[in-house]
Amino acid sequence: MASDTLTVTDNRTGKTYTMPIEDGTVRAMDFRKIRTSDEDFGLMTYDPAFMNTASCRSSITYIDGDRGILEYRGYPIEVLAEHCTYLEVAYLLLFGELPTAPQLKDWVNEITHHTMLHETTRKFMEGYRYDAHPMPMLVSAVAALSTVYPNAIKVHDPASRLRQIKRLIAKMPTMAAMTYRHSVGFPYVYPDNDLSYTENFMNMLWRMVEPKYAANPVLARALDILFILHADHEQNCSTNAMRSVGSSLADPYLSVAAAISALSGPLHGGANEQVLKMLDEIGSKENVPAYIKKVKDGHEKLMGFGHRVYKNFDPRAKIIKWTADQVFEVTGRNPKIDIALELERIALEDEYFISRKLYPNVDFYSGIIYQAMGFQPSMFTALFAIPRTAGWLAQWQELIQDAEQKIARPRQIYTGQRQRKFVPMEERQHAAAVK
Ligand code: CMC
Repeated sequence: MASDTLTVTDNRTGKTYTMPIEDGTVRAMDFRKIRTSDEDFGLMTYDPAFMNTASCRSSITYIDGDRGILEYRGYPIEVLAEHCTYLEVAYLLLFGELPTAPQLKDWVNEITHHTMLHETTRKFMEGYRYDAHPMPMLVSAVAALSTVYPNAIKVHDPASRLRQIKRLIAKMPTMAAMTYRHSVGFPYVYPDNDLSYTENFMNMLWRMVEPKYAANPVLARALDILFILHADHEQNCSTNAMRSVGSSLADPYLSVAAAISALSGPLHGGANEQVLKMLDEIGSKENVPAYIKKVKDGHEKLMGFGHRVYKNFDPRAKIIKWTADQVFEVTGRNPKIDIALELERIALEDEYFISRKLYPNVDFYSGIIYQAMGFQPSMFTALFAIPRTAGWLAQWQELIQDAEQKIARPRQIYTGQRQRKFVPMEERQHAAAVK
């Protein structure tokens, strides 16, 4: 018998089954052959939250959670963060290779010339409440692009796909900046094609009456590095949402809107905003031990700590700490960094965190940098959504081209009642009110 197989015995029937192991994985559908009778549906696997289920084959992002390794298309994240721009990395994620100089020039030119929004979208965005949170504004604005580009539904047309990819990467900063301007009541700023991707974003956020916005180069580069670090992270919650919605062949605007919705949650991208709230609540270094106690007693979560995949350290958190130093040289030190460092120091020595392999993740330090740069905390998760768009789209493109993929449709274990006798309204007597 081939060694790369798994043999299981069903003790209900005494039958033995052998199934192939490929890439350290068995196919869940092979378990369907395990039945007690011809009428039996077959054995299913039960895996809430996908703790041990691979949902796709992917050649985009590699993570080794035990060793703290993250690679995009085989290139270590540290190397890309040091040598590349965000748009170069977006190209790598989408097309599999780093661009040559002419390819990059064309790519940057294309993205730059798709940054404008249709005026109807701009007007649509004016309709939000003055105090709306940027994330739901972004979700609905991205979904609204679907009304402007109805041809985006041609998801099997490579040329159409590429057009929507360029539009989405280009327009995300424009829309994110508009959500901010909206919340502070400032007029929207149109894109400036002379500026780089991050400089232009800063221009649309912060330009006031000056005729030309000049971004601080250190801050623009720091933002670019942060964008590189956030560009993709294989099958996380929002990417899974992107793939799941995309698998129905919905257009990419609607799929990205779903991905942004998933990202907004506090256990995912929304954690960066929560970290700042937590640091505010702690207030000073002296209060850290008491807060750690609350976490250990189960009353709080240490936001920005822990990861489903990283069980050693998050390599992005290391680069972010380095970037923080560069930013603080320009902006001055954000005093919250001292509380964060103390939290990290105490947590990393504490049995509770050591035994659960809880380490700072990407969201632990990013918010402190963003705040030092002048972003309000409610914008932090939008700053995650902008760069992750390239990753979502690369994953979506891979999904569409994968012959093995079908509409995502998990199974369930039904736990409710069956074949109940209908009760007419006048005879119904509910013991408990429906909650
Ligand atoms: N603070 C305190 N305890 C924690 C934390 C935390 N941040 N994270 C996990 N634990 C505990 C958890 O209570 C559990 O303990 P026990 O075994 O006693 O029940 C144990 O560690 C295992 O945690 P889990 O919830 O089973 O782990 P998970 O893989 O399901 O969750 C996570 C991963 C990231 C959702 C979780 O660690 C968490 O909620 N962290 C805080 C939110 C956060 O920072 N999210 C950003 C994640 S990284 C970037 C991104 O994805 O956007």
